[in-house]
Amino acid sequence: MSRLLFVASEAYPLIKTGGLADVAGSLPEVLRQNGMDVRLLLPAYQDVLRIIPAPMPVAELELAGTRIRILETRLPGTATVTWLLDHPLFAERPGNPYHDPRGHPWPDNADRFMLLSRLAAAISTGQTPLDWRPDVLHCNDWHTGPAIALTHLSEYRPRTVFTIHSLAHMGLFDRATFDRLGLPQHFWHDGTLEFYNQLSFIKGGLVFADYITTVSPTYAREICHAPGGMGLEGLLRQRQERLVGILNGIDHSFWDPATDPCLAQNYSVDSVELKSANKSALLQELGLPPWEGCPLVGIVGRLVEQKGLELILPVVTEILASPAQLVVLGTGDPRYEEGLRALAAERPDAMVLILAYNEALAHRIEAAADVFLMPSLFEPCGLNQLYSLRYGTLPVVREVGGLADTVVDARPETLAAGTATGFVFQRPEASELLGAVRRATGLWSDQASWRRLQQTAMRQDFSWQQSASRYLALYNATDL
Ligand code: ADP
Ligand code: GLC
Repeated sequence: MSRLLFVASEAYPLIKTGGLADVAGSLPEVLRQNGMDVRLLLPAYQDVLRIIPAPMPVAELELAGTRIRILETRLPGTATVTWLLDHPLFAERPGNPYHDPRGHPWPDNADRFMLLSRLAAAISTGQTPLDWRPDVLHCNDWHTGPAIALTHLSEYRPRTVFTIHSLAHMGLFDRATFDRLGLPQHFWHDGTLEFYNQLSFIKGGLVFADYITTVSPTYAREICHAPGGMGLEGLLRQRQERLVGILNGIDHSFWDPATDPCLAQNYSVDSVELKSANKSALLQELGLPPWEGCPLVGIVGRLVEQKGLELILPVVTEILASPAQLVVLGTGDPRYEEGLRALAAERPDAMVLILAYNEALAHRIEAAADVFLMPSLFEPCGLNQLYSLRYGTLPVVREVGGLADTVVDARPETLAAGTATGFVFQRPEASELLGAVRRATGLWSDQASWRRLQQTAMRQDFSWQQSASRYLALYNATDL
C-alpha cells in the first residue's frame, strides 16, 4: 500500500478560512478510500486542540533547536489518521490561523510555517522516531512549500507533489528572516527560494516538486503568463511539463441538498420545487420581506478584491432594481464591508448583509437563493459555484480559472442542447456583470426554462472520486 503524507495549514472541520480547508478535509479521505495509507499533517492551533481535547502523543523530537510533539487523532467524520504539530507557536494562538484579531499577519508566520515544513520534511526523510515514512509527500500552498525544498537536502526523499490553491499568497519574507531561519545559503538564489530579493516560501514547492498541480485546467494555463502568474510565470513555463490542472471536487457528505442538516427543507433533482421553502425560511430568518415574482441573489465568500467586489459594488442598486433581493454573507476588506453596509442600510427591504463567518448560514443561502454571484477577477478553482450548481442555484460567474471550467453559459445553443448551467461574462467590468445578472433574472421569469437549467446544474458530477483518480495517477506516474 502506498503511503501518503498530505500537509496543509487548514482542514475542515478542524480549522477553516476558505476552500483550502474544504479540499484538505476531503481529498485525503477519498485517497484513503482508494487504498492509500494516508497521514494528514496540520498545525495544532488552539482552536483545533479545543475540538480534539485528548489527542494521543505519538512522537516528540527536536527541530531546528526547538522541541515539538506530534499528536494523533482522526479527522472528525472520517477515518483519516491526522497528525497535529504541537508547539506553542500554534497552540497559543486563538482564532484565525494566519492573522491576529485586527487582521494583521502574525509577525512570526515565517517561523510558524517553517516549523510545519521542517516537520513534514523530517517525516518524509525518516528523521523522526515514527515508524512510518511516506512514498509521496503532497504539500499545499505557500505554508508548506519549503518542506519540498528541504527534502532535497537528504539522500532519501519521497516523490513530491505541490498544489497551488492560489498564487496570490507567496509567503514572502525579508533577508533577515531568511538568515534567522537558518536555511542553507544556496536557498538564497533566484533558482531556488529567492524572489526579487525576498524569501518566497511558495518557490520551495514550485522549484523542487516532482509535480506541480493547481486546482483547475484553465488556472494552470493562466499562471504560465502575466498577469495570472504574478511574476512567477517564467518559472511556471519552465516547469510546464510537470504542471497539471486538476479540478477540485465537492464533498457530498457536507454539500448535498437531499441530506444537508442545515436546511429548512431538503430537496433533490427530482423535487426541485421543494427548494423554494428554503427561500421563505431564509427571508424570514433574516427579516427580509418576501417579494413575489422576484429572484433572490446570494453572495457567500471572502470580501476581497479577488472575488470581484469592485464589479459588484457599483451595480448593487441596479441589481436590486432588476428586480431582485440580495443576501451577502462574508468578511474581508474593511473598504468592501463598509461599501456593502451603506448599500444595505439604504435598501433594508431588498438587501441583507451579514458580516460574519457562518458555515450553517452559508449552506442555507446556497439552498435558498435562486442566483449565486461569483464575478471573480481570478479564481484558481472556486468551490462556491460548485455548491451552487449542486443546490440548483444558478451561478453568475466571470469566465476565468475554475469558474470557466465548471459553468456553462446559457446561450441559445447551450439552452437548445440542454447543457447550460449558469451565466458567464468575460471582461472584468461592472456593466458586463450587470448584463449577466439581467440575463439571469430575465430567464428566471420563464420558470419552465429555469427548472431545466437547475436540473442540468444539479446533475453535474463534481464528486471527488474523479479528481482523486487524477492525483493517484500522478503519485504513480512512471515518467520521473
Ligand atoms: P476561497 O478559498 O478563495 O475563499 P472557495 O470558493 O474555493 O474560495 O471556497 C470558499 C469556502 O469558504 C466555501 O466553502 C465557502 O462556503 C466558505 N466561506 C467563505 N466565506 C464564508 C463565510 N463568511 N461564512 C461561511 N462560509 C464561508
Ligand atoms: C483557493 C482559491 C479557490 C480554490 C481554493 C481551494 O482559496 O482561491 O479558487 O477553490 O483555494 O483549492
